[in-house]
Amino acid sequence: MPDFVGAVDQGTTSTRFMVFDHGGNEVGRHQLEHEQILPQAGWVEHNPVEIWERTTSVIRTAMNQLNLSASDLAALGVTNQRETTVVWDRRTGRPYYNAIVWQDTRTDRIASALDRDERGKVIRQKAGLPPATYFSGGKIQWILENVDGVREAAEAGHAIFGNTDSWLLWNLTGGTDGGSHVTDVTNASRTMLMNLETLDWDDELLGFFNIPRAMLPEIRPSSDPNGYGEAAAHGPLRGAVPLTGDLGDQQAATVGQVCFAPGEAKNTYGTGNFLLLNTGTELVRSEHGLLTTVCYQFGEQAPVFALEGSIAVTGSAVQWLRDQLGIISGAAQSEALARQVEDNGGVYFVPAFSGLFAPYWRSDARGAIVGLSRYNTNAHLARATLESICYQSRDVAEAMEADSGVHLEVLKVDGGVTANSLCMQLQADILGVPVSRPVVAETTALGAAYAAGLAVGFWKNTDELRENWNESERWQPSWDEDRRAVGYAKWRKAVERTLDWVD
Ligand code: G3P
Repeated sequence: MPDFVGAVDQGTTSTRFMVFDHGGNEVGRHQLEHEQILPQAGWVEHNPVEIWERTTSVIRTAMNQLNLSASDLAALGVTNQRETTVVWDRRTGRPYYNAIVWQDTRTDRIASALDRDERGKVIRQKAGLPPATYFSGGKIQWILENVDGVREAAEAGHAIFGNTDSWLLWNLTGGTDGGSHVTDVTNASRTMLMNLETLDWDDELLGFFNIPRAMLPEIRPSSDPNGYGEAAAHGPLRGAVPLTGDLGDQQAATVGQVCFAPGEAKNTYGTGNFLLLNTGTELVRSEHGLLTTVCYQFGEQAPVFALEGSIAVTGSAVQWLRDQLGIISGAAQSEALARQVEDNGGVYFVPAFSGLFAPYWRSDARGAIVGLSRYNTNAHLARATLESICYQSRDVAEAMEADSGVHLEVLKVDGGVTANSLCMQLQADILGVPVSRPVVAETTALGAAYAAGLAVGFWKNTDELRENWNESERWQPSWDEDRRAVGYAKWRKAVERTLDWVD
């Protein structure tokens, strides 16, 4: 058996390739950003061809730097930004349109029309999701209705859909030369098109969006001993490697954090935040604004489900301070600036740039900064931005407890923002529970590697994976109950101010 497993993590802002050993340790990586295309307010696109080029480039560079060849990899896993929608021509490999990104709100009218009648209830019941701009179904419909020739091509079986996992798997397995058109249950559960009970595309749901079934990929387990195909020998690995792991990035992080038992949860701090609670093989339907989603399916085993609190804007609010306001030069400086003050100086910032996701699901919300007085400075705004990440996480943690009865004893965290120690301290203070970060903070790529490696016997079972998890740092709550309660009440008041903003 080769010594390593590889994973491609195709995220919202960048694509990385990582190599792990049997202990789950990172052996090496390479990462490249891609362009964020913002054609008009609320629209966010990526160029799928650029994403594929970045993918080939990060794989080649990392393999060269590590002096590895395809025969050193036991398997390859893919994980991805979920919901982001690509439609391409299977005959030429050319996309018909840019990828429409999960944050894009152009399908607002489609989503609200669905929510106004019985269809909204059916989507909630069958797909576990509230009708929202976030998911792929409306984005596919938009492409079918607005891009010339796509509907005819879809009906003829030429135009095919995928999230970026499918796009990469199709290209990695040969593209126009017999590439596999596949996805996994976790990605499929983010489209509003898959029935959670049958784990298959649902004709009634497809009808709501008028999507021809022929466009859709085959749904497979997240860890699949049969494989999705082999990485083509003429591809970036320059040799055949079994492709056996595929999960949406937040589900992958849940696997990387070894949350394999019901009641175990993790919170990932990236562009947005995503808190997932493993609910076991039971489908728990949310009464409090969370999503019911597939957490993972390993081979022939029954699928495991999760409740998810998705927050659209967290790390990207810090980027906004850098790119749009210019008050910090980099993410790390947000911590230094926020540390210049003792508290938020009465300022609350609700970064509802894409409306509000969980638990509110209000596409009519827009961002607000409230509580300002002449006394406030950039430092208060930086601190309020970090607090907004933590308050939004508290909102979803509250909903999760209400839905599941599970009170988190400790919050497992991962993702880029967890390098910000002040933010993690604020998270412990605002939530009132300890926050724990593992040694390997790249849990998303690790989870995809775990799924791929389990399928080929590189790892025997999940117990072996649990042994790889080690804590690197823990933050204990330091605020008293009163401060926590007053701060949270103010936050909820600030959230109220953002609602009903868009007609
Ligand atoms: O649902 C969107 C999520 O998968 C995006 O994750 O890490 O690319 O921001 P990330």
